[in-house]
Amino acid sequence: MGLDCSAAIPLTKFGTTLDEMRFMSPLGYLLLLATAGALPAAPAPSPGRHVRVEELLRQMTLEEKVGQLNQYSAGQPTGPGTNRDRYETMIAAGQVGSLLNVTRAEQVNAYQRIAVERSRLHIPLLFGLDVIHGFRTIFPVNLGLASTWDPALVEETARVAAEEAAAQGIRWTFSPMVDIGRDARWGRIAESAGEDPYLGSVLARAYVRGYQGRRLDNPTSILACAKHFVGYGAAEAGRDYNTTEISERSLRQVYLEPFRASVDEGVATIMSAFNALNGVPASANAFTLRDVLRGEWGFAGFVVSDWGAVGETIPHGIATSEATAARKSFLAGVDMDMESGAYVSELPDLVRSGVVSRQALDESVRRILRLKAELGLFENPYAPATGTAAAQPSPESRRLAQRAAEESFVLLKNGTPSSRSEHPSPILPLVSKPGRTIALIGPLADSAGDMLGCWSGQGIPDDVITLRAALAQRTAAAGMHLRYAEGSKILGNDQSGFDEAVRAARKADVTILALGEQAYRTGEAASRAHLDLDGPQQKLLEAIHATGKPVIVVLFTGRPLTVGWAAEHATAIVAAWFPGVEAGPALVRMLFGDVNPSGRLTATWPRAVGQEPLYYDALNTGRPTPPASEARGPTFTDASRFTSRYIDERNAPLFPFGYGLSYTAFAYSATSAQASKVSAAAISAGKASLAVSASVTNAGKREGTEVVQCYIRLTGTSVARPVSELKGFRRIRLAPGETQKVDFILTKDELAFWNIQMKQVVEPAMLQVRIAPDSAQGAPVSVVIEP
Ligand code: BGC
Repeated sequence: MGLDCSAAIPLTKFGTTLDEMRFMSPLGYLLLLATAGALPAAPAPSPGRHVRVEELLRQMTLEEKVGQLNQYSAGQPTGPGTNRDRYETMIAAGQVGSLLNVTRAEQVNAYQRIAVERSRLHIPLLFGLDVIHGFRTIFPVNLGLASTWDPALVEETARVAAEEAAAQGIRWTFSPMVDIGRDARWGRIAESAGEDPYLGSVLARAYVRGYQGRRLDNPTSILACAKHFVGYGAAEAGRDYNTTEISERSLRQVYLEPFRASVDEGVATIMSAFNALNGVPASANAFTLRDVLRGEWGFAGFVVSDWGAVGETIPHGIATSEATAARKSFLAGVDMDMESGAYVSELPDLVRSGVVSRQALDESVRRILRLKAELGLFENPYAPATGTAAAQPSPESRRLAQRAAEESFVLLKNGTPSSRSEHPSPILPLVSKPGRTIALIGPLADSAGDMLGCWSGQGIPDDVITLRAALAQRTAAAGMHLRYAEGSKILGNDQSGFDEAVRAARKADVTILALGEQAYRTGEAASRAHLDLDGPQQKLLEAIHATGKPVIVVLFTGRPLTVGWAAEHATAIVAAWFPGVEAGPALVRMLFGDVNPSGRLTATWPRAVGQEPLYYDALNTGRPTPPASEARGPTFTDASRFTSRYIDERNAPLFPFGYGLSYTAFAYSATSAQASKVSAAAISAGKASLAVSASVTNAGKREGTEVVQCYIRLTGTSVARPVSELKGFRRIRLAPGETQKVDFILTKDELAFWNIQMKQVVEPAMLQVRIAPDSAQGAPVSVVIEP
């Protein structure tokens, strides 16, 4: 087995050495061997810490062990409420291993003192929180962060969030959410990276690196938690918590991918999901948790259930008592029970009666204690920060928040010529001309709280600079006039503010109309059956448009919306998401052209809610609609009637995946491949790869950043493959007139797929590759993949 290597060589992400392996259970040992060499470089080993864990395990009672597997919320609940107030007693009795929703250093330290000073074995608590897109400094909501296509930036935001949270003693975040979101009705698409497994995997890795840093015992490092394992984003009809039915192939090809990437990057924890997956609740699913996560991937960290998900196996219908719920979830591979209380009440008896083995219990406890040790909690259990107020966002973190917001904006329309467009030439960027008047209208123009988005950590509205505030400053400095009118609320049907808004628009040269969603109508438990603009906003838009003046619609949203009318009639549209604390300054800089928009969509925008779920990497079907017919739009009569289409709507989305405009124009050369044939065997063996390239030219008059995207299609394969799959991307900055050749190397990682035998292989096939500005453009080059 080749075990004669140096005892000091770390074998896993958690730095286990051969010397320490003698303390491991047989299962842990086997898993360790399975993972050895498969994972990237580990943090430095810490033999002393693991020895301490084993010593503790020897001293712990059964109840104390089970206590380590128990997590309770001790702050603002983030799930169905619980009436519990005996935290002190439970912590002192060793019945709690972790608390969530405690947010401030002094509370953390107060609870920690009980654990460290009053519990028999002085084992520190681990404090977890949803630090999702920032802790104190709130960055754009995750769908916006994803729209930057900038993993280095995403990593930086996660690092800042980790530093701010760790300063309060929070050493564990329930992030990144790496669920694939393909249905805009699902509110949690806002927390996701969007619909694509490749981009989702790249960004998942970035979050993990940012949170966990290079070493977990760095006091600014926090454990990451890839969630929700698995399939949660595929909720039927986009309704949160709903059932999912996902074939094993799709599961492996799409939904598991970002989790696999997270594990490969060394993610310390995984959260099991609420949904039933093919009839088996994800939090009691031995196939995904034991076979795939631990068996195939060698995951060495611990699994926490989502809030109450262990107990929810009862309403799911696979358990009829708390004891069965605890047994099924534990045996399936959930180490820690968040909030249901079933482990703490039932596991001791299950162990005593032999239903759950002592070894299995020890293994779960070991995983948790090891991570506590890796964080250095036994030596430094307390939060470093003191005082009652959390630190303010620093100037540097605010600058990062501004850059992240600027990169996240997606310019969806800019007076693009169309036969029906009233304002065919680009209106953006705005020209600073003294004396000009801008009208700013809309319920989201000055709504600080909404700019924080869902799951806004410890961010507060007072931190936010709104669009109104930033625009007032900018226009005043430029000798321009600003007329502001709210126009309407986001919800309801009160139109009494319309007249004032219309008057403001009439007197202005241009109107900026800030519309969209309320932040808390996105995220968890915020699914929508309608994706139109809420409340009176559509009517407000029509009233402003009727003035005949140019109107720039800025959409604050956590999901794609059905804004076909706006796409046709507004002069320009910007998807601004929920941009975070620097919403206003970032938007103003983009609108006035100090920064050139470079965000690209990571979730497809539908024309109608009936198209959902809608995503670009779909299968072709046996009856695809011919492009010419699709272009003509819906019809019930032409020859293409018996094709896969709607009779009342096009198939094509309103805005495709990868799409976004710039203030300059990029021209692409044809895609070229280094060879016209490659061998599947050589690629599989890692002995060959395929280089493809295209030249991209900035054909406009301004410097700009382009997100160059590489898509493939495989045909002639044992199972049908999607019409298009993202396999690489590059952000490049080009000066006017500048050309850059962009190369992508396609290897086994990009070309293998889960075939008819459910093996991940490179098959002989016809390969088409496109290097393009988005998922809907570009002509492919063909390459034969020979056996
Ligand atoms: C959510 C999780 C979250 C947990 C703890 C649950 O309701 O689904 O994403 O981490 O609560 O707040």
